[in-house]
Amino acid sequence: MSILIKNGNIVTASENFIGDIFIEGETISAIGKNLKYDADETIDASGKLIFPGGIDPHVHLDMPFMGTFSSDSYETGTRAALFGGTTMVIDFILQTQGKSLRNALNEWKGRSDGNAVGDYSFHMAVTDFNENTKPEIKEIIEEGITSFKTFMAYKGALMVDDRQMIGLMEEVKEQGGLINVHATNGDMIDYLVQKNKNEGNRAPIYHYLSQPEVTEAEASERFVDMTNFTGCPGYIVHLTCEGALNAVRNATKRNQHVFIETCIQYLILDASLYEQDFEGAKWVMSPPLREKKDQETLWAGINQGLVNVVATDHCPFFWEQKLMGIDDFSKIPNGHPAVENRMELLYSEGVDKGRITLSKFVEVACTNPAKIFGMYPKKGTISIGSDADLVIFDPKEKHTLSAKTHHMNVDYSGYEGWEVTGKVKIVLLRGKVAIDNNECLVEKGYGQFIKRNKVSDKI
Ligand code: URP
Ligand code: ZN
Ligand code: ZN
Repeated sequence: MSILIKNGNIVTASENFIGDIFIEGETISAIGKNLKYDADETIDASGKLIFPGGIDPHVHLDMPFMGTFSSDSYETGTRAALFGGTTMVIDFILQTQGKSLRNALNEWKGRSDGNAVGDYSFHMAVTDFNENTKPEIKEIIEEGITSFKTFMAYKGALMVDDRQMIGLMEEVKEQGGLINVHATNGDMIDYLVQKNKNEGNRAPIYHYLSQPEVTEAEASERFVDMTNFTGCPGYIVHLTCEGALNAVRNATKRNQHVFIETCIQYLILDASLYEQDFEGAKWVMSPPLREKKDQETLWAGINQGLVNVVATDHCPFFWEQKLMGIDDFSKIPNGHPAVENRMELLYSEGVDKGRITLSKFVEVACTNPAKIFGMYPKKGTISIGSDADLVIFDPKEKHTLSAKTHHMNVDYSGYEGWEVTGKVKIVLLRGKVAIDNNECLVEKGYGQFIKRNKVSDKI
């Protein structure tokens, strides 16, 4: 099967030009102007932008969490991602404390194998690092899972202490991997949650008030110091605020490099959403939404090259599930749906509103995730030999986000009624038209597990 895409505005992290793309099988085989190939199918992309397929390196599909499961399966979550121009996601495997990494990997494979519509990979979350876990790091990396997640929060469930963190960092560095971290101070948060509950403060806003900026700034600084000490490549997930970003900024003064991810919600939503009664539960996530000044810091951080990735932390729950915390904010399952909305929101709020350039958009939404997580240039760019993962995008079309029209398996939208400029029109995944005209043309099982290479702290 061959496809010729004609006259599109091709955008990569470094270039922007009008041209044609010729695809044979699953990969791109030629790029240029006025390409003359006999193709099985020709797509006219005049007036449209062509991006590499988006990569969201932070999603939680079918994940057991807080007494329930996140509501998107590998099928519904990766299909919704495709509708939004994201051709690959990286999901999180959670080790059960007392059990092996292998055990967790098998459990996650049981849910994902044969079920994904779009491509995917895993990070391995280590929640119990000990002498039995240590030799498994090498084995997991050999299977193409080269990033290891740690939680400095969720005390009593997922949190590791600094002793485990240092030991894990040493081993991950030795084996050629990267440490991801949820960097908030779990002890401080645990204390504040209990204090609020004891005082009878049960509404969603107390989720926000139990995780002030200092809890994130402190943990981010500690993590950065520990990666500096061990020399392990580090990546802070879902960074939200000025204090935390300043910790990273300071580390650059000693020429240290730590990768930073923020998420679309922290760029465009703020904590005023918690001021409505239980409705605020829609945005109960960890860390919580912050202030307007933090949004400005994060946009600037993207342009300064400090923030490398814009992800989602997609972790959807039905309203019925959110109601588990109706009388107690600490029982509201943490997370919100966004995987389908990330690319369009980032384009609309970022590029269309003049906050970032087109190439920066591609860099943080497609190219950097591929580079950081060991998949470049197979994924994350438009070049000869790369997978033909492409998004044909109308930069002018306006539309409104709504739970009535989205494809994520959840009954509300965190962005209900939000008008965006720019729409995903056609999506190709490994040379196949996956989305066309609001229709998904690939089946469950088409999505592949993507083995990743070893990584470093340089991209
Ligand atoms: O609220 C969130 N972020 N839910 C998913 C788990 C995590 O901390 O990433
Ligand atoms: Zn987290
Ligand atoms: Zn997460």
